[in-house]
Amino acid sequence: MEKPQHVPVLLEESLEYLNVRPGGVFMDATLGLGGHSSAIARKLGGKGKLICFDRDPEAMAKAQQRLNEVAEELGSGMPEVRYVPRAFSEAADEVEPNSLDGLLADFGVSSLQLDEAHRGFSFRAEGPLDMRMDTRGGETAEQVVNEADEEDLANLIYENGEERRSRKIARAIVRARPIRTTAELARVVSAAAPTIRSFEHGRNKGPQIHPATRTFQALRIRVNDELGEIQSLLKSAGSLLKPGGRVVLISFHSLEDRLVKDAFRDAAKANQLDILTKKPVVASEQESLRNPRSRSAKLRAAQKI
Ligand SMILES: C[S@@+](CC[C@H](N)C(=O)[O-])C[C@H]1O[C@@H](n2cnc3c(N)ncnc32)[C@H](O)[C@@H]1O
Repeated sequence: MEKPQHVPVLLEESLEYLNVRPGGVFMDATLGLGGHSSAIARKLGGKGKLICFDRDPEAMAKAQQRLNEVAEELGSGMPEVRYVPRAFSEAADEVEPNSLDGLLADFGVSSLQLDEAHRGFSFRAEGPLDMRMDTRGGETAEQVVNEADEEDLANLIYENGEERRSRKIARAIVRARPIRTTAELARVVSAAAPTIRSFEHGRNKGPQIHPATRTFQALRIRVNDELGEIQSLLKSAGSLLKPGGRVVLISFHSLEDRLVKDAFRDAAKANQLDILTKKPVVASEQESLRNPRSRSAKLRAAQKI
């Protein structure tokens, strides 16, 4: 069976808030499989420029193929595309200050990363405990799971996973070590904390979700320093945008959204940004039905003053 493609979330809303105009200069901080970038490219036209970041070389190669197809179709109407296979926290080294009309980031993992068992992101498949977006180096989830002491593990699962049974889970992990695969870890966590509900309708009131969801989220955030990356991007975004330029950020859990919300509020107080979304934009019912991943998405947008 063919694997499902990554479906870009809140696509129309992203384009609208980015205010993509022909000839503009835009940055996609999280190219992924190029869903948002393909749509931005179509609106930018031949005089536009698109700078695409992704620290996952596998994703970047796939997205490049997709954008090459768009280029064939558009011919001279295709904008110039520059690929930067680095973390978006390094954007200030790659992008001129005051040069962007818009910056988009769609945080989290892509379907490609989740679907490929060998990447180790999914508790639904048997794979090595890897979870690195950038496979060129750095600590793996296997190292964290097998080397961290029990208290660090518990704190990590509590803070990055918002998991209340973090101590119980950390104890079970330490007893079961060594743990080598995603399926082994999922079994250990499920046995320690069998039922868990999502936060969809308020804390623990949503439908039941897989017991390992939050522990896997916590490890992924740690392995990829996801929150540190977002903080760095939030610090540099304002200086990369032209006055009047837009920043559009899509979060998938409350830890990410809180960072964005607080940074926008502080920048608005300092008269650096105008917030365009008083409340975060969420997926329509139709989109939520079509694409379950969009159910937890929250888009916030702001404009540089
Ligand atoms: C949700 S996907 C983006 C999907 C994309 N918008 C699309 O429609 O195809 C997130 C992508 O961002 C990348 N990513 C996440 N954090 C990153 C970071 N700090 N620096 C660079 N790329 C990052 C991931 O590797 C992943 O490919």
